[in-house]
Amino acid sequence: MSQLSTGLGIDIGGSGIKGAPVDLTTGEFLRERLKVLTPRHADPAAVAEIVGEIASHFPEAAKAPLGITFPGVVQAGVVRTAANLHKSWVGTDARTLFTEATGRPVRVLNDADAAAVAESRYGAAKGVPGVVLMTTLGTGIGSALVVNGRLVPNTEFGHLEIDGHDAESRASSGAKEREELSYQEWATDRLHRYYRVVEDLLWPDLIVVGGGVSRKAHKFLPHLDIRTPIVPATLQNTAGIVGAALAAAEAGTV
Ligand code: BGC
Repeated sequence: MSQLSTGLGIDIGGSGIKGAPVDLTTGEFLRERLKVLTPRHADPAAVAEIVGEIASHFPEAAKAPLGITFPGVVQAGVVRTAANLHKSWVGTDARTLFTEATGRPVRVLNDADAAAVAESRYGAAKGVPGVVLMTTLGTGIGSALVVNGRLVPNTEFGHLEIDGHDAESRASSGAKEREELSYQEWATDRLHRYYRVVEDLLWPDLIVVGGGVSRKAHKFLPHLDIRTPIVPATLQNTAGIVGAALAAAEAGTV
């Protein structure tokens, strides 16, 4: 396995922390991913320990660039927001923390940004010119903006205030589950309004929908009456890991 074309990605989420070595020429996993459940008390120390375990689970990628996603704003390695994770993350220098936990340099970036990097290189946004908006629908709503293949990091369009509410509290797939909405109800009552507002503000050329629920895109995308072409992500739940690995390998370019 050539180290140059291998990256290691770790994706930190509210329910699981997942990692896998990635073939950067194809965007595919080189080995089955390892998933560890996110602890209830997911503070920096607890998560760093798991990140260390996952990194050492793949000795074949010990020298590969290591990228790690975080479900919040990350500026120069420092976490600025943590809407759905322990509040003690805010202000944490995650780059230093994970470097110490793994004994190697790391790149830390927002989870939706990582997914968009992966979709732009290998998936639904590959080669698409202009403005691509990626949204990930999960516990929250993540967003990423890619302009002619370059990421504009840390957009937080999941937190737009729409009709007096934080958008993700009504339109995420977490809200769909909490309120036991059918796919059609969720699409017509919530997603439709969300994407209408977003397209009127950003005028993207393409919207890519990621997150676990994008596997069921055929159940909700047809109910959206919006002007922008909207397609499901093609990498689905591997996108965070793949994008993190790629971003680490190409730090400074993506
Ligand atoms: C966070 C984003 C994150 C998204 C998906 C939101 O609540 O603010 O930074 O990308 O959830 O995890």
